Amino acid sequence: MTRIFLLLSVFLIVSCKSPKKEEQPETFSLDKVLENNVRKTQKTLETLSVNQGFPRNIEKDTKDWHTVGVRDWCSGFWPGVIWYAYEFSKDENLKKHAEIFTKPLDTIAYSPADNHDIGFMVYCSYGNGYRLTGNEEYKKVLLSAADTLATLYNPKVGTILSWPSQKHKFKYNTIIDNMMNLELLFWAAKNGGNKELYDIAKSHATKTMDHIVRKDNAVYHVGSFDEETGEFLRGYTHQGYDHESMWARGQGWGVYGFAVAYRETGDSAFLETSKKLADHFLNRLPEDGVPYWDFDDPKIPEAPKDASAAAVVACGLFELVNLLENEELKAKYFEAGKKLVQELSSSEYLSGDENQALLLHSTGHYPKNSEIDVPIIYADYYYMEALLRLKKLGESIDSEKVLAKN
Ligand code: GLY
Repeated sequence: MTRIFLLLSVFLIVSCKSPKKEEQPETFSLDKVLENNVRKTQKTLETLSVNQGFPRNIEKDTKDWHTVGVRDWCSGFWPGVIWYAYEFSKDENLKKHAEIFTKPLDTIAYSPADNHDIGFMVYCSYGNGYRLTGNEEYKKVLLSAADTLATLYNPKVGTILSWPSQKHKFKYNTIIDNMMNLELLFWAAKNGGNKELYDIAKSHATKTMDHIVRKDNAVYHVGSFDEETGEFLRGYTHQGYDHESMWARGQGWGVYGFAVAYRETGDSAFLETSKKLADHFLNRLPEDGVPYWDFDDPKIPEAPKDASAAAVVACGLFELVNLLENEELKAKYFEAGKKLVQELSSSEYLSGDENQALLLHSTGHYPKNSEIDVPIIYADYYYMEALLRLKKLGESIDSEKVLAKN
């Protein structure tokens, strides 16, 4: 009896989901949150097989992942979540499942490119798999995926064509999300792939910085270019509120993507771009620290939130912490990233027993009335990444500070 009581007390102290929110302050323990996320991932795998497809979102009033096929742009995130869960837990059964869900994505590397998302799909699955196992077969798939992505590059424009199927609407288009897929090219160029992949990635980042990053330090979702001259024609939104508004996740892709571009090239203009996009995002955050889906939606504060944007930005901020030398700036971005992770790890955003996802409250494509205020797999992926990054940074920077303050 005493033992049960003790166990119950420990659970209540470390639990992120306080049963009586008003009376008892929530506590935050990085390891507990990660352990919980690992357990949820293991539990989902008890009933989800690869034949059912890849988790993408959880529809309102349902509990289980809605799955999609391997060609959906989100297919790589679930294997990525399992790889992260394996990285933390070292559970061999998770590794086995990560391998099973990674395998079918090889088709993306070996068939013609129909959009830029190859980077998301293959780098989150095979990229993490290779990082954690060194499996040479994974490396081959990654190198092929990089070559496939590069077939969308147009040297006259200097960027990758992000959405070939949307040329009727946006002409030659390059989108801010595409910044995230340059990491695959940079990686391939220094891991036995074609060296030109580096130049392609750098050119793409430069042109995106020059035209898709706006003077107000927010970003367009889509940049439209003249296919022959490379001239920038105009910026659009596709998933945001307005062409000139600040779509939260797009800003996140920019923060993270330019930080990686700086890491890989050493070009300080990319660093400055990532910083100014991050500052603008952080300065405009609402009080609870998690962004609305678009910072300029006039329905705020009734507008839906986007937990995925918070998770992506947290990863980008932690990347900046790794790259910066100025201690004050490092501390600033570290604290800001930690605050985002902490908010996501509160009972407001953690899904607990509500459904199979880790996080609630993401918004996919509001203008299309699609995936509004629901769990979405890429929120879970970047949340797991942010937690692991925070753990690594906490250990190397000041672990006392990370854990004691929470
Ligand atoms: N198009 C990718 C995203 O929804 O952010």
